[in-house]
Amino acid sequence: MIATPASIRIPAYAKINLSLRILGRRDDGFHALETRMVPIDVSDEVEIARLRGGESSLTCSDESLPLDDSNLAMKALRAFEKRTGVSGAWGIHLEKMIPSGAGLGGGSSDAAAVLRGLNDLTGCRLPLETLAELGAAIGSDVPFFLHGRACDATGRGEIVSPVEFPHQLTLVLIKPPFGVSTPWAYQRWAASRPLAEVSYEAQVCPWGEMVNDLERPVFEKHLLLPAIKMWLLAQDETQAALMSGSGSTVFAIVREGAQADALAARAQAWCGPTCWVRVARTMHR
Ligand code: C5P
Repeated sequence: MIATPASIRIPAYAKINLSLRILGRRDDGFHALETRMVPIDVSDEVEIARLRGGESSLTCSDESLPLDDSNLAMKALRAFEKRTGVSGAWGIHLEKMIPSGAGLGGGSSDAAAVLRGLNDLTGCRLPLETLAELGAAIGSDVPFFLHGRACDATGRGEIVSPVEFPHQLTLVLIKPPFGVSTPWAYQRWAASRPLAEVSYEAQVCPWGEMVNDLERPVFEKHLLLPAIKMWLLAQDETQAALMSGSGSTVFAIVREGAQADALAARAQAWCGPTCWVRVARTMHR
């Protein structure tokens, strides 16, 4: 028998959506979409340890997050246990660096890390397709995070195909102090209207067209977000700017050779200390 380690620590990377087009509402209440997601070098750290006894438990550096079975990391543990029949108690710790309600996929990425971590720790060796099937039942983005590379996604976002993505993009991410509820954003999509003087059109870039159909409903309610997007678009360093997922993060892609740090510093000064501002890079392989 191969000995398996007692604990594991893995990074759970965030993502941005370089495009997100909604094709329509489906009979099951989800929305059919076409999206391109790319991992970025902002990450949580997920630690999983085999406990000697007692109950499985979750701890988290962010006290505002639930620690019960409603947390996607716990959902991942339960799904893995149900599928494999493995028993035992596990201690899961989430060291959060990815903001929540940000459209950066933090919760889904943590869930994917738990599935991968348990698969390694238990020696179960479920194939990627099986993990992705478990992941899809937890959240539409989880299969993407299991692939861990740039993907195009269809269906409700759970049908993923890896794509070649040779570009190394530098980004400035801005997340205001509020989050956006994903179900709410999708629900508002059909009845939403564009705001005057806000640019929603597809931005043609070497890596494809950048557009996000969720900007329309989210911008209508959270007026700071279109203001951030238009401010970013007006900066010399910015090649393109978009909201990620259902928000509330808005990001700029920084022109090659331009100073991302300078843009980030000005952005922080412009939107104030309550906004989370980061320079990040897309990850590729
Ligand atoms: O799959 P996920 O848990 O991320 O979805 C959260 C909610 O967002 C869903 O319950 C649904 O209301 C909405 N959603 C949607 N269409 C999608 C993805 C999510 O309507 N493609």
